[in-house]
Amino acid sequence: MSASHKPLVFSGMQPTGNIHLGNYLGAIKNWIPMQKEKPCIFCVVDMHSLTVWVEPKELRDNTRMIAAAYIAGGIDPKLSAIFPQSAVPAHAELAWIFSCVARIGWLNRMTQFKEKAGKNREAMSVGLYAYPVLMAADILAYKGTHVPVGDDQKQHVELARDIAQKFNNDFAVPDFFPLPEPMIMGPAARVMSLRDGKAKMSKSDPSDYSRINLLDDNDTLVQKIKKARTDPEPLPHALEGLDERPEASNLIGIYAALADISKAQALSRFGGQQFSTFKNDLAELLVEKIGPIRDEMKRLMSDTANIDRLLMEGTERAEAIANPILKQVKEIVGFVAR
Ligand code: TYM
Repeated sequence: MSASHKPLVFSGMQPTGNIHLGNYLGAIKNWIPMQKEKPCIFCVVDMHSLTVWVEPKELRDNTRMIAAAYIAGGIDPKLSAIFPQSAVPAHAELAWIFSCVARIGWLNRMTQFKEKAGKNREAMSVGLYAYPVLMAADILAYKGTHVPVGDDQKQHVELARDIAQKFNNDFAVPDFFPLPEPMIMGPAARVMSLRDGKAKMSKSDPSDYSRINLLDDNDTLVQKIKKARTDPEPLPHALEGLDERPEASNLIGIYAALADISKAQALSRFGGQQFSTFKNDLAELLVEKIGPIRDEMKRLMSDTANIDRLLMEGTERAEAIANPILKQVKEIVGFVAR
């Protein structure tokens, strides 16, 4: 990132159902302290959710649900702009321009598309393939410099850097766009499934027991931890002991992130203990930290008019930043000005 750009934090989340602990620990929780340090924009990326089929009503409800999760998780709508991506047309307009800058070869390397499409590539939407280009537009419509995301989004933010660099070079506007930095933070940047320590915790896993949903009630939270897969050994005393033990590593990472300590510190607390004892402490901590977020989410979701008003205010603030940047981009690429 060049020093000439003012720092601006941008991140986003898809309004797909089942917002889970990975979304909270890998993203939202890390956004909270940034709000006091830099201008922050947190978008609900509803256009990204259209890349796979979603019922229109579900999309609308989920957009409000994610906004509620942001606020209940600690995002202050007075400090940070919260808004739906589709409400600011600059995202879509810039995405088109960037799709003419990005190369097909670059998109072909995106591992998430390969994972999501599997063998069914030909049947996927064009949007799913072009998805990272829209993500680059999200960030760069605001000249975002810092992008706090979970580990799975690192490659997409790196693509946004490549697009920014190529745009600056192609149009001979050195330094017009900053090169955004992915910020992968904390001991839970990649929370894994509770059923399989080698698979990512994900909204789309058919097994509800694979993930902790932010809307799970306390009994369910406890049951899911109790049933989480483990191995027969006691917990190790040091980090090296977690190698080749993905389930232990995952649960210790979750504990550490919730307790705001490192994995090494968590191991100094639990090293030598059986999983059964550790799981009791983990379940208790989970209820203590996630319970209040869930209750606040539900309270916020019951007042749709209030959420819609906050999203509208966020939209206005976002547009005030993005529109002048888009205007300059249109001049740079040679569109006749309106
Ligand atoms: P999405 O909606 O899949 O996930 C939202 C955020 O949650 C993180 N995350 C995880 N972190 C740790 N462990 C997990 N198991 C886990 N699963 C998800 C993601 O890394 C992400 O930070 N393409 C993005 C949304 C997006 C975006 C953007 C992000 C669109 N435009 C611009 C940043 C900047 C996505 O689908 O995230």
